[in-house]
Amino acid sequence: MEITLNINGEDRSFQIAADNTLLSVLRREGYLGAKHGCDDGSCGACTVLVDGVARTSCTLLALQAVGARITTIEGLASISTQGEGPPMGWHGHIALHPLQRAFVETGAIQCGYCTPAMILAAKALLDQEPNPTPEQVRDALSGVLCRCTGYVKPVQAVLRAAAYLRGDAVPPWEEEAGLGWEYPSGELLQPPEQITPPLDEGMQPSAAGGPWRATQGSVQTSTPSTLVAATRQEMWRVVGKPEPKVDAVKLAQGRPAFAGDLQLRGMLVGKLLRSPYPHARIRRIDASKARALPGVHAVLTFEDVPRVVYSTAGQSHPIPGPLDRVSFDNKVRFVGDRVAAVAAENEKIAEEALKLIEVEYEPLPAILDARQALDYPVVIHDEPDYVGFGHSDPQRNLAAQLHIELGDVDAAMQQADRVFEAEYSVPRVQQTPIEPYVCVTYWDEDDRLTFYTSTQVPFHIRRILSPVLGLPMRRMRVIKPRIGGGFGNKQEVMIEDACAHLTIATGRPVKMEYTREEQFVSSTTRHAMIIRLRTGVTRDGRIVAQEMHVLSDTGAYGNHALTVTGNTGHKALSLYNVPDIRFHADIVYTNLPTAGAYRGYGVPQGFWAVETHMEWICREMGWDPLEFRLKNAIKASDEHPMSKAWSEGRAPNPEIIQSCALEEAARLGAARFGFRTARDGGDYHIVPGKSHLRRGHGVALVMQGTAIPYVDMGAASIKMNDDGSFNLLIGATDLGTGSDTVIAQMVAEVLGCRLEDVIVYSSDTDMTPFDKGAYASSTTYISGGAAVRAAAQVAAQIRERAALMFNATRPADVAPIAADDIELYDRCAWAPDGRSLTLQEIALHALHTQEQRQIMGIGSFVSPVSPPPFAAQFAEVTVDIETGQVTVERLLMALDCGVIVNPVTASGQVEGGMTQALGYAVSEEMVFDGNGRMVNPRFGDYRIFSADEMPDMQVLFVPSYEPSHPFGVKAVAEIPLDGVAPAVGNAVADAIGLFIRDIPLTPEKVWRALSRADA
Ligand code: FES
Ligand code: FES
Repeated sequence: MEITLNINGEDRSFQIAADNTLLSVLRREGYLGAKHGCDDGSCGACTVLVDGVARTSCTLLALQAVGARITTIEGLASISTQGEGPPMGWHGHIALHPLQRAFVETGAIQCGYCTPAMILAAKALLDQEPNPTPEQVRDALSGVLCRCTGYVKPVQAVLRAAAYLRGDAVPPWEEEAGLGWEYPSGELLQPPEQITPPLDEGMQPSAAGGPWRATQGSVQTSTPSTLVAATRQEMWRVVGKPEPKVDAVKLAQGRPAFAGDLQLRGMLVGKLLRSPYPHARIRRIDASKARALPGVHAVLTFEDVPRVVYSTAGQSHPIPGPLDRVSFDNKVRFVGDRVAAVAAENEKIAEEALKLIEVEYEPLPAILDARQALDYPVVIHDEPDYVGFGHSDPQRNLAAQLHIELGDVDAAMQQADRVFEAEYSVPRVQQTPIEPYVCVTYWDEDDRLTFYTSTQVPFHIRRILSPVLGLPMRRMRVIKPRIGGGFGNKQEVMIEDACAHLTIATGRPVKMEYTREEQFVSSTTRHAMIIRLRTGVTRDGRIVAQEMHVLSDTGAYGNHALTVTGNTGHKALSLYNVPDIRFHADIVYTNLPTAGAYRGYGVPQGFWAVETHMEWICREMGWDPLEFRLKNAIKASDEHPMSKAWSEGRAPNPEIIQSCALEEAARLGAARFGFRTARDGGDYHIVPGKSHLRRGHGVALVMQGTAIPYVDMGAASIKMNDDGSFNLLIGATDLGTGSDTVIAQMVAEVLGCRLEDVIVYSSDTDMTPFDKGAYASSTTYISGGAAVRAAAQVAAQIRERAALMFNATRPADVAPIAADDIELYDRCAWAPDGRSLTLQEIALHALHTQEQRQIMGIGSFVSPVSPPPFAAQFAEVTVDIETGQVTVERLLMALDCGVIVNPVTASGQVEGGMTQALGYAVSEEMVFDGNGRMVNPRFGDYRIFSADEMPDMQVLFVPSYEPSHPFGVKAVAEIPLDGVAPAVGNAVADAIGLFIRDIPLTPEKVWRALSRADA
């Protein structure tokens, strides 16, 4: 039928089916700012305005919108000749709506997948209420879930936009956000005398103080969230500044930047048939009826596709894990495992075809409890082509095993005055990026198979799938567009193989996109673990021995099994200087969804156990929780305890800690937070007028790593253009973290140009140099290091060219200017005598005038070390002793992440990470019934935090300088996941006097603990 919709003030007529949702029609007709994030109206990513009211377009039929005014994000920005904005030639420039402008300025956009919906929800509010309170803003945004930001900056953005719209005087964002540098009292920090990056490959330092500056004092912020502390932190011109993200404008406009936005002529829809059984053999499969359905172009099962074993783990070669996967198997190993794939003209036909595939299953006994898995009579991987790695033993349902002994633990425990032993558990949780996994495959005009996919690891995808598809790598190209959040979930070959098989079978482009339920069940999760911890201490407060035994549940397949769980011990057992350590891990197969990489990569599990255990020890021994921890914590110049025993499944590489501001972070954080313990008197436990509430404070210290030594490699290339701008090509994959921006900031710093002069392209296996992808907290450090090296080469060539030009007009009696004496800043090359040439003049000379050549460079970076960032996490909770409800009131994280390249993107990472970790602490858990079926695969039932539920959050950076990196950086992305759960758990223990050793800390769990204590 034909309908007419009024969209952004324009009447447009469309042919639709009666059951078409408004979202499907909008996206089909090119309004791609409305996103798909779920299937039941619970994520809000598809929000549009209908007669000025924010509505989820996936829950409205297109027919229901006839006669209404529909506003999409595409209707907000306009072309104008007034004001400022990205230029659009003679036509003018893009004039962003004040909301879009504020979202760009404040760093409210990370992956940007939720951004159009947030902006529209905010517009609905501001149209009604021009001067909203923060609570009203949070309420208005509460229908749009964001997994990246922690909502701090979106709220700030809306308040700022409201001020713009009211016509108030709005200060520059750097001032309003309070991003000044604070100088803590006393000389707590000992930064290097002079922060000068180790230079190589032609990189040159600036003149004394030239492009450096130091600012003093903090600026009051209207919505304080981020504080940056330093003693004598010197800043560069671009590095250290809160630059807007380089992709923020297009994301604020809802431009078609994501994989799901790609529309190709003749594109088919791919769908997967999934197992209803947790464990079964497929006795017979008949797809003839499905194949006969009009509109179906291919149905593929294990009978159609060559059997090639591989690992889906997006890791470097050789993958440190078993090869236990094939594209389609004659056995299924969890509810949701892949059975068949269909390509059809549209989604409806594809789903119909799935129902017509006849499968005869022979159900097998299933293992749904990791405690049963080892040596159980049922073998999950009995296929003969299984390829083990290390100590994997499929006959025992053992995907991987790890045993590390440092010193003599048994003897040390004997020496201890007291030994504490307890068991801790953590659940299976999901990364839940708001963008579900989506992939498009097609043959290009040269018959090369192209993947346009939401992956974190494009180069690994190409390498891993080459044998699986029977296609040489040179015939494959993997393009990563913008990604709507990853958090490790997309460090995997997820659906690319199935999508490619369908393109190979049909010759047609195929798009495959997970539903939210598939995203929960059929992608990857965090490993559930049971951790037994034994710690020996002496009466004077020293830890003398630690023993950790981990039972880790990898689910049906062993991707990331060894390395995630190895990391659990490698990081969590390294924070404290303990001479004698034993770490044993059994990583077992079960018939549950597959675990994989999740931001933190095994470390949050370890620190839940270790930091809860430390608190328990302190309470039992009567020790101050901070002093005990700091007394035992590692420091700069110490050896990283576990580094001599483990390195992600490779040969160990002993490391010395070169930068560590943990003590400063902990002390500054405690002071800022107003951290209290029962030793200070218990009055703070009382909530005046609320006798059913108890308040508690908790702390946890944590550390992570930065990249994998001698494994993680990134590369970058830079070429100079005629106008003095630069193309930066990086294989690194920005997941919304802002890595494209911070890498470009470092490049701009070296080249003496502005951020806007660096045009970033990432990533494409044909166009960009190799990068191992976005994981292991490595992008700023590794890929940034590569880009700095490439920039250093370019800078050297620019100086040489400038010297040539300066010296061309030199009087005979004047000494020539040496290239090394030329400085680059303010878009110019500066001679010592004060003369200058613009970068554009230099580029034109090099390309067009004399001794022509292309100025360009390429750099690679691999690190021999994995410098740990450190942090102190503080939490305040109130516990309702009648219901068990835990309310987290405040979180503060004080971090040493090395030099902060961009305080806005870095603090956004921390806020978003703390929010994910908060869900891990109190609400998130994948729950399964007795048949291995997940009972809560929907937002709403699976509880992630929304804008109106958030505690107050503060971030305090306490920078150090990491000498192994040109700009002194360490990682910031993963460490926020590590400390929230134990800090919250310890705060609950402080409030009610009881330790609960398994998360999440649900009301039921807390209430039961209180009831048991009362009994
Ligand atoms: S609410 Fe519409 S896609 Fe999630
Ligand atoms: S920025 Fe909100 S989901 Fe990524």
